[in-house]
Amino acid sequence: MKITKTSQSRIKDVDFNNLVFGTQFSDHMLVAEYSDGAWSEPEIKPYGPFSFTPAMHTLHYGQAIFEGQKAYYMENGEIGIFRPEANAKRLNHSARRMFMPEFPEDLFMEGIKALVDIDREWVPKAPNHSLYLRPFMFGSSEFVAARPSEKYIFCIITSPVGPYYAGDVKVKIEETYTRSAAGGVGSTKCAGNYGGAFYATDQARKEGYTQVIWTDHKNHELVEESGTMNVAFIIDDTFITPPLSDRILGGITRDSILTLLRDRGFVKVEERPIKVEEVVAAAKEGRLQEAFGMGTAAVISPISTIGFRGTDFSISTPEDGYAMRIKKELTELRSGLAEDPYGWMVKF
Ligand code: COI
Repeated sequence: MKITKTSQSRIKDVDFNNLVFGTQFSDHMLVAEYSDGAWSEPEIKPYGPFSFTPAMHTLHYGQAIFEGQKAYYMENGEIGIFRPEANAKRLNHSARRMFMPEFPEDLFMEGIKALVDIDREWVPKAPNHSLYLRPFMFGSSEFVAARPSEKYIFCIITSPVGPYYAGDVKVKIEETYTRSAAGGVGSTKCAGNYGGAFYATDQARKEGYTQVIWTDHKNHELVEESGTMNVAFIIDDTFITPPLSDRILGGITRDSILTLLRDRGFVKVEERPIKVEEVVAAAKEGRLQEAFGMGTAAVISPISTIGFRGTDFSISTPEDGYAMRIKKELTELRSGLAEDPYGWMVKF
């Protein structure tokens, strides 16, 4: 791999005590280019702008996908990346569905480790801080004919981040707009899934909510996701989350939480379709103990209010509840304070 180091690090300009999510970027980035059916050797070089033609394919047709993952500073001074193989696989799941070339998993693993290693000083050391890693790929051919791009760029940039203070999360059960539909691209991390969600989210914001709970495209009867995260409810001491489908993103945090909960057995786990009416009935009857989003950025984001057809239901967010216990277990595993029986941390 070709490596060109920056002559002037920008790390001194960063206030690691006041990091705003995803706004500052480390010194280096990794870039590989695809043309004539093959990927170039990835190159690590100083972080900086790309130049592009106005006819660049992705600006017109949106063949663009990304990943979100984190590297942690561990108790023993090592750096650990959480489940990078899972991200490499999910990137290629997105690539296949978006008709883009897969990026070889071994190059992904080698590249991400080399990049984090070069910028290891950028991995924040404070608790609940991490280096957010953003691999992405987009069509870079120069033509506006509506056919797949022939050239692509794969890139990884990294950003030091602190705790994701979502504050009080009030969500509205969305019954007008949909995030995804059967046969669509909802299970991929394509850029348009996020761009397409902003309008509905803003409508909910105007009504005083922070986010929406997405429901199914047909009848808005089934709960699917919450904002950019997978969603779970604790009802009658049971953890319930919707099953994966072509409408729901296979969250790596979701998968890790399911694995931990099934192994530790401190709560009953159900991965099954869950109806809006079941959540609302449980809220009315005082059986909805907790609700939360699960994702890379916030890890777990407790929901304090669910709005449904003009009525707001308050949900407790106990410090010693299930959500916080799950978060603690994951945090301890990631920092090396607890064992990692699954080999999830790739350390160096
Ligand atoms: C998540 O953590 O839920 C995300 O998808 C990250 C985001 C910044 C899009």
